[in-house]
Amino acid sequence: MRARRSCLAVPGSNPRFLEKAQGIAADEVFLDLEDSVAPGAKEEARRNVVGALREGDWTGRTVVVRVNDLTTQWTYRDVIDVVEGAGDRLDCLMLPKVQDAAHVVWLDTLLGQIERANGLPEGRIGIEAQIENARGLVNADDIAASSPRLETLVFGPADFMASIGMRTLVVGRQPPGYDEGDAYHYILMRILMAARAHDLQAIDGPYLQIRDLDGFRAVARRAAALGFDGKWVLHPTQVETANEVFSPSQEDYDHAELILDAYEYYTTVEKRGAVMLGDEMIDEASRKMALVVAAKGRAAGL
Ligand code: GLV
Ligand code: MG
Repeated sequence: MRARRSCLAVPGSNPRFLEKAQGIAADEVFLDLEDSVAPGAKEEARRNVVGALREGDWTGRTVVVRVNDLTTQWTYRDVIDVVEGAGDRLDCLMLPKVQDAAHVVWLDTLLGQIERANGLPEGRIGIEAQIENARGLVNADDIAASSPRLETLVFGPADFMASIGMRTLVVGRQPPGYDEGDAYHYILMRILMAARAHDLQAIDGPYLQIRDLDGFRAVARRAAALGFDGKWVLHPTQVETANEVFSPSQEDYDHAELILDAYEYYTTVEKRGAVMLGDEMIDEASRKMALVVAAKGRAAGL
C-alpha cells in the first residue's frame, strides 16, 4: 500500500505551484487537470503537467494526475496525453465524479491500450476513484470492485455536498442548523466500508478554509479515528498536521507492538489464547487491532 496520509492538490495550470510542490513533504502529490483548472486553461495545464512529471523531482512521493470527469470533453485527451507523455513517471490517475463501475472500467481499458501501444508495463498505473455525488455513493460497492487497478476511494466533500443539496458553504464543517450529530458520518462510513470490503484505501477530501488549521485538524481527526488512511491538503501548512493525525501516536504505537509481542509469546510458548496484559485482556481480535495500529506506525517510521 502506498503512503497517502497527506495528498497535496496542485493546480496543473500554475507552473509556480508545480515547481513549489516538489519541495513539500506530502505523501502524495496530485497534479490537477480538473476543477482547479479553468476551462480555457485545460490544454496548457496538460502540457505543464507532462513537463513537470518529466523534468521535476518527485522522488519519495506517490505521484498522481487528476483527469477531468467523464461528462466532459477533456477526459480521453487528458489520459492519452499524460500517459503517453509521462506514463513512466506516474503511479496513478485519479478519476473524479465516478458514478458507477463503468466509469472505472472505461479508464482501465483505455490505460491498457495506451500501455500496450507505448511499451509500458501493463497494469502498473493505478486508479483513484473520487466519490462525490449521491449516485457514486449508492454505487460505491460496485465501484470498489470495478478494476484491479483501483487503489483507493476518495471522498469529494465539496461536490458531494452540492450534489445532495446540503445547505452549507463551508466544506467539511457541519451544516448550520444541524446540531444533533455528524452530517458526514454516514457518507464517510459508507465509503470506508466499500473500500475495506475490497482491500482499498479510503481518503478524505479537502478542507477549504486553509487558514483555519484547528478546523482542519478536527476534521482530519474524525476521518483518522474512523479508519481513513489520509486526507487531501491544499496548502503546505496542512501537510504536517495531516501526516501527524494519520499516524498513530508514539504511545499507541508502542502499546500495539507490546500487545503483538506479548500475544506472540503467550500463544506460541504458553499455548494460551486469551491472556492478561496488565489490566487488559487480549486475544486474537486484540492482535488484529494492534496490527492495524502497528502497521500504520511502521509505515510512518515510528
Ligand atoms: C473534491 O474534489 C471535492 O469536490 O471536494
Ligand atoms: Mg470535486
